[in-house]
Amino acid sequence: MTIRELLEEASWELVDACERPRFEAELLLAYYLKQERLYLFTHDTKQVVAVAGYRSLVARRKAHEPYEYIVGEASFYDITLAVEAGVLIPRPETEILIDLVATIIRREKIEQIVEIGVGSGAISIVLARHFPQLQIIATDICDTPLRVAKENVRRLGVAEQITLRKSNLMDEVSEAVSLVVSNPPYIAEDFLLKPNVVDYEPKEALFGGRVGDELLKQIILDSHAKGVRYLACEMGYDQKAPIEAFVKELGVQSIHFYHDLSGFDRGFVIDFFASRSIANESIL
Ligand SMILES: C[S@@+](CC[C@H](N)C(=O)[O-])C[C@H]1O[C@@H](n2cnc3c(N)ncnc32)[C@H](O)[C@@H]1O
Repeated sequence: MTIRELLEEASWELVDACERPRFEAELLLAYYLKQERLYLFTHDTKQVVAVAGYRSLVARRKAHEPYEYIVGEASFYDITLAVEAGVLIPRPETEILIDLVATIIRREKIEQIVEIGVGSGAISIVLARHFPQLQIIATDICDTPLRVAKENVRRLGVAEQITLRKSNLMDEVSEAVSLVVSNPPYIAEDFLLKPNVVDYEPKEALFGGRVGDELLKQIILDSHAKGVRYLACEMGYDQKAPIEAFVKELGVQSIHFYHDLSGFDRGFVIDFFASRSIANESIL
């Protein structure tokens, strides 16, 4: 079969599985042939002899397995991270959280932070690369993310800056830090997710409890108790009101909620030390 015929066949196979079947068929074939995508257009009449291997990749994608798990890597910010089943595929919206945290680190000249729930290492690695003096203690409760993050940290040259630690939230962190960042699991247990997410991505990375915000609230409590000044977290689009009420009860005076690129509430930054109610923008 020629490249053109193979792509035609695969595009039809993927029609119900993904939004851009032709594009994904091309990405998978480029990956399979170990070529750039451009090669497919310049060699579209070339015969592909061993088509079975490609068809099995397409079948996995047709069964809703995420592209990133099939090829074993994900693009995030300015890096490529190894990912595998058991590790959340980093999402573009998390880049906003990183930018907010970077603003605070730069302004306050912060030298040590904690990340809760390191996953593939996405947040910690990007921050470490941007701030060569920064030290990060990055925790996770699961072994697979810690193993994959270790490999990514080593490969991207930031092993000197990131200490990976198995821990429930910050239970194993005794060091004093002024900033904590987290993209914790925050989805409600009964929330209906797409098959490519719920059938493949780790439950421990998705679900935050029955309501969804249980871990977020625990992170707020733990950060408060530990004397942390800044806490920056990603959250669900419908969690602003409960989080706002929760921090108010705790006596927190300053919380800034931010939106994702679609305009949905997506996270917050708390300044636990602000002694009076200040305008949201003042934190950042
Ligand atoms: C939503 S993923 C975020 C991964 C990565 N930081 C990112 O943004 O792509 C949440 C991570 O938190 C970890 N996790 C879940 N519960 C935890 C807990 N109680 N303590 C520490 N980590 C936890 C999961 O294993 C998962 O790796």
